[in-house]
Amino acid sequence: MAEETTTEAHTYPPSEQTTQYANAKADLYEQADADFEGFWADQARKYVTWGTDFDQVLDWSDAPFAKWFVGGELNVAYNCVDRHVEEGNGDRVAIHFVGEPGDERDITYAQLKDEVCKAANALSELGVSKGDAVAVYMPMIPETIIGMLACARLGAPHSVVFGGFSSDALRSRIDDCKAKVVITADAGYRRGTPSPLKPAVDKALEKADGGSVEKVLVVNRGDTDPEMKEGRDVWWHDVVDSASTEHTAENHDSEHPLFILYTSGTTGKPKGILHTSGGYLVQTAYTNSVAHDVHPGEDVYWCTADVGWITGHSYIVYGPLANGVTQVVYEGTPDSPHKGRWWEIAQNKGVTVFYTAPTAIRACMKWGDDIPAKFDLSKIRILGSVGEPINPQAWEWYREHIGHDEAPIVDTWWQTETGAIMISPLPGVTDLVPGSAQKPLPGIAVEIVDDEAKPVERGQTGLLVVTKPWPSMLRGIFGDNERYKQTYWSRFENLYFAGDGAKFDEDGNIWVLGRVDDVMNVSGHRLSTAEIESALVSHDRVAEAAVVGATDDMTGQAVVAFVILREGGASDEDQEKLVQELRGHVGNEIGPIAKPKSVMIVSELPKTRSGKIMRRLLKDVAENRDVGDTSTLTDSSVMDFIKNNLQAKK
Ligand code: WT7
Repeated sequence: MAEETTTEAHTYPPSEQTTQYANAKADLYEQADADFEGFWADQARKYVTWGTDFDQVLDWSDAPFAKWFVGGELNVAYNCVDRHVEEGNGDRVAIHFVGEPGDERDITYAQLKDEVCKAANALSELGVSKGDAVAVYMPMIPETIIGMLACARLGAPHSVVFGGFSSDALRSRIDDCKAKVVITADAGYRRGTPSPLKPAVDKALEKADGGSVEKVLVVNRGDTDPEMKEGRDVWWHDVVDSASTEHTAENHDSEHPLFILYTSGTTGKPKGILHTSGGYLVQTAYTNSVAHDVHPGEDVYWCTADVGWITGHSYIVYGPLANGVTQVVYEGTPDSPHKGRWWEIAQNKGVTVFYTAPTAIRACMKWGDDIPAKFDLSKIRILGSVGEPINPQAWEWYREHIGHDEAPIVDTWWQTETGAIMISPLPGVTDLVPGSAQKPLPGIAVEIVDDEAKPVERGQTGLLVVTKPWPSMLRGIFGDNERYKQTYWSRFENLYFAGDGAKFDEDGNIWVLGRVDDVMNVSGHRLSTAEIESALVSHDRVAEAAVVGATDDMTGQAVVAFVILREGGASDEDQEKLVQELRGHVGNEIGPIAKPKSVMIVSELPKTRSGKIMRRLLKDVAENRDVGDTSTLTDSSVMDFIKNNLQAKK
């Protein structure tokens, strides 16, 4: 964003009412400061029911490999479902499901318990036992959540692959974690029509090496009559619906793997981020309680993320369900069949706590104030933002038009790796500063440092680091301990390097400024420049590619690609076609979200004398800035060529 990111003149102190009602009280910070481990032990016992209590809070002796709540045993699914029923809340709605075509289903905690038990029994029948990986490639429907909880119940780590990813992306993730079963659906609804998923699974499995997958469990969502492979594919309604609702939840070790979730890094190969059970559940439940301020039994909560991302794992599935919250789960897009769809659902379901991404807020701003104004959003009392920095303008719009000038906004900073919210204001406690994520949560320690690991002065930009371990931290990169150490713990000794630039303002509020590595953030989704570059060079006409994330008013960043063609090049009219073909190719290789906004065919790329592509210069060009210092280039005329050519095309 071109906008300033300094403290705005006005801040918003909490209302008396918010302060009184809020779960978080101001003394939470002091409690955590006074006794770090004691604080987390308290949260662990407050938010989670343990089958066996833990005897050590943190074991950091093998740093950076952490163990939290050592000796403790729990069943995550029991915590998310059964105990609410046992406590007499079985009739409470867990999920208000809204399908894109308009179908609706309310699922109570008692029903959810039955469904999870049935799915756990069915998965066992299909050969899944503790420790087996299960891939989940699904639309946003209740069966996705049921399937994940069934895996958690069995101690079978799930690997959810976002339904918008391609079959190639699915295949590499299945291969990496050697999934034994894939849970999928024939299709999910997108803008009024069923968009197929099952064919992508078939394609992925055709090419999968090792053949780890034995069974594919298929939910019929779209009535699209997919091909079913004899002996491998089974219908959910055949095996789950008839299964028993009795299933004993075995306790698993606190450090038992709960899931793997792949995310983009600075190299071409996505990283399988590993999360375990106890610490993850404690921090997701705690943060959902203090930052989103959910009051189970009173609130109707809605997180608009897809379960395929960490936000969906932590703040649709585990955090809110552990807390016994009632929530909305919506299958579709915000603008189908009309641009007020979200607000219509929020009105009809009486949503009180709403959590979304800045890119969506900016889209709604563009669609116009009159759209949310048509709906009664008066019940909304807390708003949240996640995924990228929220510019103050969007923040103010969100508060005024969705939060009727009253609802506190929590701008929550965290990552796939952190598992749960790390930096955020607390409703009822913090004086809100539009555009800033403000303060580390009680129990979380962060710093902003320079290259020598020295804390920077207020107002100076530095690198965001986490200085103490935290319960929901990643336990590693699946199958690659070295890469885990290298990526997060090698830049500074004993400090977790998050990959973001940030600064403190004069009042000590944190402003997260964005990635400092070759990771882009497009509409709150993380994409790797290297991954898209390798997708481009896998096209037979491309010799070399460079990708940058250029600032974009709507999506935060946009993917801009520069490619050099192989021998023969392309004629002018061929170029247009080829550009579309390359965009489509990236879409096929990775998924539509990775499609470059623009592809520029060039004859050279700017390189240093040692042969490294100077992305910084390409970014200047893509963002229409004057190109900076080119003295280290092998050939400085390259930049003139690229610039002139790009401008001619705009
Ligand atoms: C990256 C992590 C956390 C769930 C969604 C994204 C950026 C995230 C904020 C925020 C500024 C943010 C960071 C971070 N980010 N939240 N509130 N303010 N930047 O998870 O895909 O793992 O991406 O998203 O750059 O490193 P992710």
